[in-house]
Amino acid sequence: MVEKVTVPHIVKQKLRGEKITCLTAYDYSFARILDAAGIDILLVGDSVGCVFQGQPNTLPVTLDDMVYHTRAVVRGCKRALVVSDMPFLSYQVSKEHAIKNAGRLVQQGGAEAVKLEGGLTMQETIEAIVRVGVPVMGHVGLTPQSIHGFGGYKIQGKEKNQREAILRDASAVQDAGAFAIVLEGMPLDLAGEITDRLTIPTVGIGAGAQCDGQVLVINDMLGLFDDFTPKFVKRYANLKEITTHAVKSFIGEVREGKFPAEEHAFK
Ligand code: KIV
Repeated sequence: MVEKVTVPHIVKQKLRGEKITCLTAYDYSFARILDAAGIDILLVGDSVGCVFQGQPNTLPVTLDDMVYHTRAVVRGCKRALVVSDMPFLSYQVSKEHAIKNAGRLVQQGGAEAVKLEGGLTMQETIEAIVRVGVPVMGHVGLTPQSIHGFGGYKIQGKEKNQREAILRDASAVQDAGAFAIVLEGMPLDLAGEITDRLTIPTVGIGAGAQCDGQVLVINDMLGLFDDFTPKFVKRYANLKEITTHAVKSFIGEVREGKFPAEEHAFK
C-alpha cells in the first residue's frame, strides 16, 4: 500500500530538509508513469495551453480545459499530491468567482490543491479560497499569465525595486495561508533569500538550486516539446527522437508488408 502525499506531508518535507519533486502532467498515461516513479507533486499546469494545445501562451486556457485534464491526471495517480492550475480570469474577477472555480477543480476535477499566480494583489483571494478548505499553492516572479505586462518571458527581480516587490509578494502569499509557493524565473540569490525567509516550501523553476523543491514541464524535460527551450530546462531524455524513429519504423513496416506479422493476427 503506497502512502499518499498530502499537503501536510509537503510542508513537513521543508522542515526535514527533504527536496520536493514536482512535474506537470496533463493525461492519465503520463500521470501513472510519473506517479509510479515516485514524484511528490503532479501539477496539472496551464502550460497545457502551450505543450498540449499548441497555443502561443497560457492565456487561452479555460477552466473547463483544466477540469478535463485534472480528471484524467487524478485517475492515473495513486500517491502524488495533485495540484491544478487556476487559468487566466478564473480567479482575478472576484473572490466569490475564485472560490467557485477553485471548488470546481476540486469537486469536478478531483484536485487536492489549486495553484494561482500573483502575490500581494492576490492575498485576499488566496485567504478566501483557503478559508473554504481548498489548499493553495502560490506562484510569484515570472508569472506567465502576465507576459504581456512583462513584455515577454523575462527574468524578474533583477532590479532592486522588482526584487523588493517579489519579496513582498512571497510573504503575502505565505501570510494568506498558502501551503507552498512556486518561484519562477528569478535570480538564484533572490529565490534563496525567499526560501530562507519563508516557513512554507518554495518550488523553483528557473530559480536556482536553493529552493526547497523543483518543478519542470514534463514535455520539456522529456524532449517532446522543442518550439523553444528555456535555459533552465534540462532534457533528461529525447522522446521526440525516439518517437520519430518508432513512427518511421511503423510506416516502413506497413509499407513493406512486415507489420502486422503472424503473431499480431487472429486465427
Ligand atoms: O503551468 C505550469 O506548468 C506551471 C509550472 C511551470 C510551474 O505553472
